[in-house]
Amino acid sequence: MTFQNRMKIPRPDDMHLHLRDGEVLKAVLPESARHFARAIIMPNLQPPIATGAQAAAYRDQIMAALPKGMEFTPLMTLYMTEDMDVEDMAAACHGGIISAVKLYPAGATTNSASGVRNIDNVQHVFEKMEEIGLPLCIHGEVADPGVDIFDREKEFLEKVRRIRLAFPNLKTVLEHITTSESVEFVKEQDSGMAATITTHHMVLNRNHILAGGIRPHYYCLPVAKREHHRKAVLKAAVSGHPSFFLGTDSAPHIDSRKESPCGCAGCFTATNTISILAEIFQRENALDNLADFTSRNGANFYGLPVSDSTLELSHGAPVDYPEKIHTSEGSVTVFDPMMPLHWHVETRN
Ligand code: DOR
Ligand code: ZN
Repeated sequence: MTFQNRMKIPRPDDMHLHLRDGEVLKAVLPESARHFARAIIMPNLQPPIATGAQAAAYRDQIMAALPKGMEFTPLMTLYMTEDMDVEDMAAACHGGIISAVKLYPAGATTNSASGVRNIDNVQHVFEKMEEIGLPLCIHGEVADPGVDIFDREKEFLEKVRRIRLAFPNLKTVLEHITTSESVEFVKEQDSGMAATITTHHMVLNRNHILAGGIRPHYYCLPVAKREHHRKAVLKAAVSGHPSFFLGTDSAPHIDSRKESPCGCAGCFTATNTISILAEIFQRENALDNLADFTSRNGANFYGLPVSDSTLELSHGAPVDYPEKIHTSEGSVTVFDPMMPLHWHVETRN
């Protein structure tokens, strides 16, 4: 490929994003809205977004926090619970309030305590979702404390296999995949199954978190795995394969809650994700596939039009980005990709 120093891509979509609420929402929202057209918004607030009315109110809160002049469409999700009202879910889907439902195994991650304890208890929810064409997003890790944390994603695949067999027409996204087994699993499935891949899981292996000192800002869930898994996930992302697309899982936590004896899981990548991805795709000789990963595959999967506005990228001197985003509750550290970034994103805002 001849070297390009400018490129245009359709405005990207972030198909997995945590915006939180209140003051943190106000501080982090512009970081995503500056570059992204739309994002699938995770519902793991406290309390969780579990009803259509809560999703509508949360969407309004996001829109109210959006600075004037910025354009951004939040695509809302519901938090699946064992006792959720499927009629309320269906009404929220038909009313265009929600775009997906998120399954958190109870205890698997941040604010997942009200999630699903036993998948057998939500079969009727899957059935309704399949019937009305509402996609399922899965945090695919078993929460069993007896299972090693590095094996939790691999162990969960059996449950995904069972869901796919029982509900073959249920559109299903395995979120933030981190293993070669997940990559292979998704590739074996039909086009009704996809996976999101985060920016940080394309960069990190477990040594980055643990070797030579513990680095809390690289701790997220699913936790980064061995190098060969990072390579498999990276290869899937840059391949252009339609079943893999960007979901950053950008997850802001105030620094004092990350740099703590029991630090929270999450990497905050919204600010520099696009520059990091362009850098990675260039290194992999795959810049031609960047727009598929960031802007086309996810939209196609969710049945949305590809954004008709564009983002222009230019290659030059190292990009300056803030180390931290300041909120009135404290600072949030921006993900350090451990490499200089040369792709600048030109924004109108
Ligand atoms: O690292 C993570 N952070 N993984 C998750 O699953 C949840 C997220 C959060 O909400 O902080
Ligand atoms: Zn997440």
